[in-house]
Amino acid sequence: MEIAFKKVSFDYQAGTPFSNTALKDVTFTIPSGSFTAIIGHTGSGKSTILQHLNGLLKPTSGEVHLGDTLITKDSDMKGLKGLRKKVGIVFQFPESQLFDETIGQDIAFGPKNFGMSQEEALVLAHDKLKEVHLPDEYFDRSPFDLSGGQKRRVAIAGVLALEPEVLVLDEPTAGLDPRGAKEMMQLFYRLHTEEGLTIVLVTHQMEYVASFADHVIVLEKGQVVKEGSPEEIFSDANWLHEKQLSLPWASAFHRELLKAKDELDKETTLEDSDNSPVSQDAKSTREETSQSPLSQSDASMESSSKSPLSQSDASVESSSKRPLSQSDSSMGSLSKSPVSPSGCQLSQRLDKSLDQALDGQNEPLSHSYALTIDELADRIVLFLKEGADS
Ligand SMILES: Nc1ncnc2c1ncn2[C@@H]1O[C@H](COP(=O)(O)OP(=O)(O)OP(=O)(O)O)[C@@H](O)[C@H]1O
Ligand SMILES: [Mg+2]
Repeated sequence: MEIAFKKVSFDYQAGTPFSNTALKDVTFTIPSGSFTAIIGHTGSGKSTILQHLNGLLKPTSGEVHLGDTLITKDSDMKGLKGLRKKVGIVFQFPESQLFDETIGQDIAFGPKNFGMSQEEALVLAHDKLKEVHLPDEYFDRSPFDLSGGQKRRVAIAGVLALEPEVLVLDEPTAGLDPRGAKEMMQLFYRLHTEEGLTIVLVTHQMEYVASFADHVIVLEKGQVVKEGSPEEIFSDANWLHEKQLSLPWASAFHRELLKAKDELDKETTLEDSDNSPVSQDAKSTREETSQSPLSQSDASMESSSKSPLSQSDASVESSSKRPLSQSDSSMGSLSKSPVSPSGCQLSQRLDKSLDQALDGQNEPLSHSYALTIDELADRIVLFLKEGADS
């Protein structure tokens, strides 16, 4: 189901002295079958958009197209029950979605409401509980005795029980531990790839955007400031910085590596000019280096000028696809060659960057252009080797 917003504005408490404009002239399309991420600062209007996706809110002006259904300020919202089955929303605060006495009854409520028998709905509820990785013993417990993360899983199970065409997720991994977050993201990605669900994900995690989304909408103060593929969105690191949005960690880390390399190059140039008798040797070493397999980063920098990706992102992408064999050879020579003082500084800086970059990441991201840990390690060895040689 394609979703399109055309010049949508929305004011909370419209027409009262407390009127608050949350969306202004918002136009975008969520393609059918896409994995769309909506990103933007707190208060930028993400959750307000989501509440327009199944008719919980209607626009103050403009048009919301949900498949064949058109919603405007004049729409009668009572006739939208069918839409709530097609578009399932997991809200930002899942507590608000739970109300039944037991977890099983809570999950079964939606299907029963749409005509399924009690028996069938309970069988389905058991399946969905398992799908969100909660043990079956929880079935007869109260949903209110659960932790925040567990409540979120129950809310997700309740929405999945409706077997929607579009799954809308408002920060679905908030409150989950890293492993739980990963399980949930894998579940959504599986539903997207294997069952063809359109996914609309609101997240502050750029890694998820880089790893899973194929379409991104960036909001700022109730307006769309960019829409495109993750490559298009992350290609302009300066723009992201201006908007106070972060890069995916692998891209950020790679930028840090390029900076470290630039600094090292500058240091080497200074040393060259200070010691003119050896400058010729140093120069030829650098030239050799730039022609060696270790100049992967330079090569990808050049190729990036033709691609829509920024330098760092383009090299990240090419790196994620290339074999790791180079690291083996450079590892071998690294162990034989002493690391220069500059190489040590570089190593320390890389260690720090790696710690920051890997904070909260205990598993490689495999999809799209996020680097795996092995590939990162490979890249570090290349930089260290260059540092040691020059
Ligand atoms: N019920 C409400 N009544 C009045 N104003 C509201 C209400 N809900 C949200 N707003 C306002 O609308 C704007 C957009 O809020 P929204 O919740 O959509 O932001 P968000 O992007 O989801 O933020 P977050 O990342 O913090 O969840 C904000 O200025 C917010 O204060
Ligand atoms: Mg929100």
